[in-house]
Amino acid sequence: MKYILGIETSCDETGVGIFDVEQKKLLANVFFSQIDLHKEFGGVLPELASRTHLEKIKPITQQALQKAKINLDQIDAYAVTTHPGLTTSLLIGVCFAKSLAFAKKKPLIEINHNHGHIVSSFVDNNLILKNDLEFEHICVSISGGHSTIFLVNSPLEFAPIGNTLDDAAGEAFDKIAKIMDLGYPGGPIIETLAAKKNFEDFFSFPRPELENKFDFSFSGLKTSVLYKLVKLGAYSLKEKKSTHLMTQDLKEKIASSFLVCVRDILLKKIEHALKTYPNIKAVSFVGGVSNNNYLRKELGDFCEKFNKKFYLPPRQLTTDQGGMIAIAAYFKALAKDFSSYDLDIKRFSRL
Ligand code: KG4
Ligand code: ZN
Repeated sequence: MKYILGIETSCDETGVGIFDVEQKKLLANVFFSQIDLHKEFGGVLPELASRTHLEKIKPITQQALQKAKINLDQIDAYAVTTHPGLTTSLLIGVCFAKSLAFAKKKPLIEINHNHGHIVSSFVDNNLILKNDLEFEHICVSISGGHSTIFLVNSPLEFAPIGNTLDDAAGEAFDKIAKIMDLGYPGGPIIETLAAKKNFEDFFSFPRPELENKFDFSFSGLKTSVLYKLVKLGAYSLKEKKSTHLMTQDLKEKIASSFLVCVRDILLKKIEHALKTYPNIKAVSFVGGVSNNNYLRKELGDFCEKFNKKFYLPPRQLTTDQGGMIAIAAYFKALAKDFSSYDLDIKRFSRL
């Protein structure tokens, strides 16, 4: 087996990646983000996402093949995300992958979207598989759709040990940005504003203590920010909009305090994991929020202090894309873990 093609359509990104098994390298990672299409609806509109996947999946596949400088007949296996995700979005990728695998008489590999995020940090910035990966390690997977901590025992074995009880961390970035009229996605804008105040903590937003110390709750943090702004007269709950007191200075202070709070929450979870699982060799940080330079640095410094390795994905693998699906499929192909042609999406699966 030489080339594996990975397909990702679980939410609002149509992605195709191609992994070269001999070189252990991701040759192509092409994706189309539907963010702009969904913006006007204030969130992902499932039917629109599904229809857009249908339109984009073929041209994106063709672009990935061009990028990898190969043709479809050279693909040796087809991999696809089957869960978790939006039913109607997952269906497009699964039907497409099944059709290709069946028509070309090649193996089919089903991938858990979370598995994709977990292995996204297994390649270096040249998209080549790292050869010094250590297990077991913990993976902090944080994006607009998920906030989960996984215990990763091997490239194929992982289990969630903590999850968000309400909003995902990225969602909190986006909602707070919306309250302050900053635009979407909120994460990068909040980071820029926070840097202006040197990541100082002005408001000491709450760091919740939860029963399972690995779980997250970001909805409370979002509410604390909102009520702080209401108390300061910068946001009107009645009119559901900001007032003239929402100054640039206040936005920067809120952004800075919020980001420091997110850092503290993440570090506390990691510290708890290191104490609970003494065999942990490394920590990885993946998903859309792992684009944040401040969090990258703070989590990295923390791991260094505890003498643990720290794995980050290359930037292009932080968001949802097919590259990570092709990498996960490589490990499943090594284990000869293939699916039958009547593969279906896994409905109602959160993890
Ligand atoms: O993985 P992703 O592209 O899509 C989802 O699965 O949600 O993640 C997008 C999320 C958004 O919530 C966005 O605000 C956040 O990642 N994000 C960031 C940064 N860049 C993107 N959050 C914090 N800091 C950033 N620099
Ligand atoms: Zn994702």
